[in-house]
Amino acid sequence: MSNTIDHLLDEDRRFPPSADFAANANGTAELYERAKADREGFWADQARELLHWHTPFTQVLDWSNPPFAKWFDDGELSVAYNCLDRHVEAGNGDRVAILFEGEPGDERRITYAELTTEVKKAANALQSLGIGHGDRVAIYLPMIPEAAIAMLACARIGAIHSVVFGGFSADSLRSRVDDAAARLVVTADGGYRKGKVSPLKPAVDQALADRGTGAQETVEHVLVVRRGGNDIEWTEGRDLWWHEALDAASDEHEATPFPAENPLYILYTSGTTGKPKGVVHSSGGYLTQAAFTNKYSLDIHPESDVFWCTADIGWVTGHTYVVYGPLALGATQVMYEGTPETPHPGRWWEIIQKYGVTILYTAPTAIRSFMKQGRQIPQQFDLSSLRLLGSVGEPINPEAWIWYRDVIGSGRTPIVDTWWQTETGATMVAPMPGVTDAKPGSAQVPLPGILVDVVDEQGATVDNGNGGLLVVTAPWPSMLRGVWGDPERFKETYWAKFAAQGYYFAGDGARKDEDGEIWLLGRVDDVMNVSGHRLSTTEIESALVAHESVAEAAVVGATDETTGKAVVAFVIVKESYLAAHSPEGLAGDLRGWVSGQIGPIARPRDIYIVSELPKTRSGKIMRRLLRDVADGHEVGDTTTLADTAVMSVISAQVK
Ligand code: PRX
Repeated sequence: MSNTIDHLLDEDRRFPPSADFAANANGTAELYERAKADREGFWADQARELLHWHTPFTQVLDWSNPPFAKWFDDGELSVAYNCLDRHVEAGNGDRVAILFEGEPGDERRITYAELTTEVKKAANALQSLGIGHGDRVAIYLPMIPEAAIAMLACARIGAIHSVVFGGFSADSLRSRVDDAAARLVVTADGGYRKGKVSPLKPAVDQALADRGTGAQETVEHVLVVRRGGNDIEWTEGRDLWWHEALDAASDEHEATPFPAENPLYILYTSGTTGKPKGVVHSSGGYLTQAAFTNKYSLDIHPESDVFWCTADIGWVTGHTYVVYGPLALGATQVMYEGTPETPHPGRWWEIIQKYGVTILYTAPTAIRSFMKQGRQIPQQFDLSSLRLLGSVGEPINPEAWIWYRDVIGSGRTPIVDTWWQTETGATMVAPMPGVTDAKPGSAQVPLPGILVDVVDEQGATVDNGNGGLLVVTAPWPSMLRGVWGDPERFKETYWAKFAAQGYYFAGDGARKDEDGEIWLLGRVDDVMNVSGHRLSTTEIESALVAHESVAEAAVVGATDETTGKAVVAFVIVKESYLAAHSPEGLAGDLRGWVSGQIGPIARPRDIYIVSELPKTRSGKIMRRLLRDVADGHEVGDTTTLADTAVMSVISAQVK
């Protein structure tokens, strides 16, 4: 039995960029050549071209103590100065940085000059609370401009932020505050979600109330942004209003440069087991790749584009493609507080129409949920301003890709499918819009200056046409610098599997097509062995989504006496189909369809038509829980689900 992953699905549609798009795109084929000729020199050029250095660096990469990399180590810069002051100094202070749309419909247009002033005041306020270089600050906020302001204020004074997603519980917040020994928490009374105020401050109170935890001992102050207008409990001496602290602060603040390797932030990511890992990112290399990918892969032209990355600030996508990347370029972007369906299912499209959004960057899970509702909703809005679409977070099934391009992109916009991780800090594998002929469902090629490969269990390159494990074979500027407080875990988790080769193993399966281009196949933990064939969930899910009735699908391997594992599919059917078809008829059709599309080996043993799939708060499907249902086991730990009730609904539907 081979240890590569079998390949089932062929997709041969190709979409070259239009001549017009190619002529105006930032990215050119020449970038790949420059990077190939001298990789480190290429990154040094990017760091110099894209950023301002208070002290220029002379060293590029120091890899003398792997896996602990140093980039631009003897250089000094201020991340905040790069994202703010320099744009004002260059005469762009009146350019809008953030077009904020609150869920209730309130608006704020914040220019670079205003944002710079707010960050200066916030930096002074933090310093007056005794926060300084190296201190950890937990940020637990809704999607409001203060989230970006708080992050940049930390960067400005060399404090390390740890943003905790506002949808996480008091327990999750406490464990993160504990692990980082944070001294300050920045929160809000609440934020708007689904038409209601969802309170935040009570969770902070609860997290800090438990005696004997680190959180209770290390946190000295809680800064509270007023957003939801709730009555909240107040701990005198500890709690302070954000607006009062900023009003009292001076709006003069000199940006201090810090060494390139100064840690910028910690972001916790949950592993499959054990406590969340605090992924640590540093300053110079991170900001270089953040700015580089925003400029070339997302093709941002700061003078003319209106960019919208829909990710929450609590995820890495919100760090790199809401805060650091777009602001480093001096771009204008939309920030939206609420949910896509509030107060009506066309809210996102209304926002695109209202602000003239030109580049939309979102996740496949969102695209598939719009597919489920039907194209008539986006078609009520004018989306003609869009010129580029991006996808991130999961493999995008070819049919979802086509729907995205046809319905949202009017059949003409390029799509960039960007593969990366919290750990990689910024995009690693993605087509270059304007250069690459796009293949629906494939992330295609490593960015210039990035080296990846697909290998077997022994670390040997697989041939084109085969699947295996995706690895990064050389250090990159925005790579994680470690796991907070746990260097052993850093080595063990990411570098031990291919220690002999010195490869970073990402945990994902991938396939190289006949052109050597990369197709992500999902997490290797989800690969299933059916009659001796290693099948990826992604390809079977893509075949299901290619059926006209299916909006979303999740496939798992259930224990089977004959085949080892059997393919079991959970599908969400489009609303327009549900009324007209019986579940039994549809399930039979879909089994035949998968068999016809990719072969009898992948034919699902069972198909369950369900109304929801279990997802994490960042939208990833938790197949492990579906495996439990398929095997008839008790459903495992559901605490990281966005909606914990969903598993009982699914279990009932399956019965
Ligand atoms: O499995 C891959 C999937 O998301 C994982 C990283 O998740 P996270 O750290 O939360 O970061 C999300 C934002 C980058 C990866 O290991 N993933 C991410 N982007 C893609 C993807 N899988 C396929 N195609 C993508 N474009």
